[in-house]
Amino acid sequence: MKTRGPGTVYLVGAGPGAPDLLTVRAARLLGEAEIVFHDALVPKEILALAPNAKLVAVGKRSGRFSTAQQFINKQLLDAARRYRSVVRLKGGDPMLFGRAHEEIEFLAAKGIAVTIVPGVTAALAASAELGISLTRRGEARSVTFVTPRVGAGTSKSSWLQAALAADTVAIYMGAGQGSAIAQALIAAGKPGTTPVAVVENASLPEMSVSFTNLDGLRVLAAPAGPALILIGEVYREAAAALGLRRSASHAA
Ligand SMILES: C[S@@+](CC[C@H](N)C(=O)[O-])C[C@H]1O[C@@H](n2cnc3c(N)ncnc32)[C@H](O)[C@@H]1O
Repeated sequence: MKTRGPGTVYLVGAGPGAPDLLTVRAARLLGEAEIVFHDALVPKEILALAPNAKLVAVGKRSGRFSTAQQFINKQLLDAARRYRSVVRLKGGDPMLFGRAHEEIEFLAAKGIAVTIVPGVTAALAASAELGISLTRRGEARSVTFVTPRVGAGTSKSSWLQAALAADTVAIYMGAGQGSAIAQALIAAGKPGTTPVAVVENASLPEMSVSFTNLDGLRVLAAPAGPALILIGEVYREAAAALGLRRSASHAA
């Protein structure tokens, strides 16, 4: 095939899952894309917006499928040398726990133009579904997005210090470690009665929400789907009203 590059690589946020939470800009770029590298969790309705593109699945799905980052970088470079419009579609927002930096740095060093298109991050979609502000006036003046997950070769996570310092905490990639997270926070002085909301599959028809507290999080079964752990006083009212039980299954 004739080479038409160097093209631009667009790092595009796909949002939390609901296809209609995609930005208009993202939809336009997908329509123009010649090749799309997408995370495994991106729904088929969003991929259908790229009818003329070659679709390549990369990225992770809870350890089920993973393409090494260096290989993804190389694929993006090769594609940019061959096509004019290359979309790298990432769940949520690319700049939050999305490994965007590795791709931007690598491509920039090779002289490839990179453009970022933001997406709705999971914590904001979960907050919308709950109808509870992350910064409810009078209760929370700070919110932190953290993950206890550390990649190979990276420095130790400072999530605990960050979580203790903020009024509201959104924990990404932590749902399988609820017990350890709760124990660490309690051991560091956070009361076991601190309210918690666990939101699985935010924005999707199969969404489910559990309200509990840190004591309850120690024994809560790990969700099967992508889930956020939200911690803070802003969840006290909802947790109390619902008796610290699994509260809702969402139907869009
Ligand atoms: C690798 S991080 C990517 C985050 C993404 N860049 C974002 O901005 O939402 C994956 C984690 O995001 C969270 N997540 C992604 N989609 C979600 C959803 N629909 N509902 C709840 N949590 C979600 C989960 O904590 C999951 O383990």
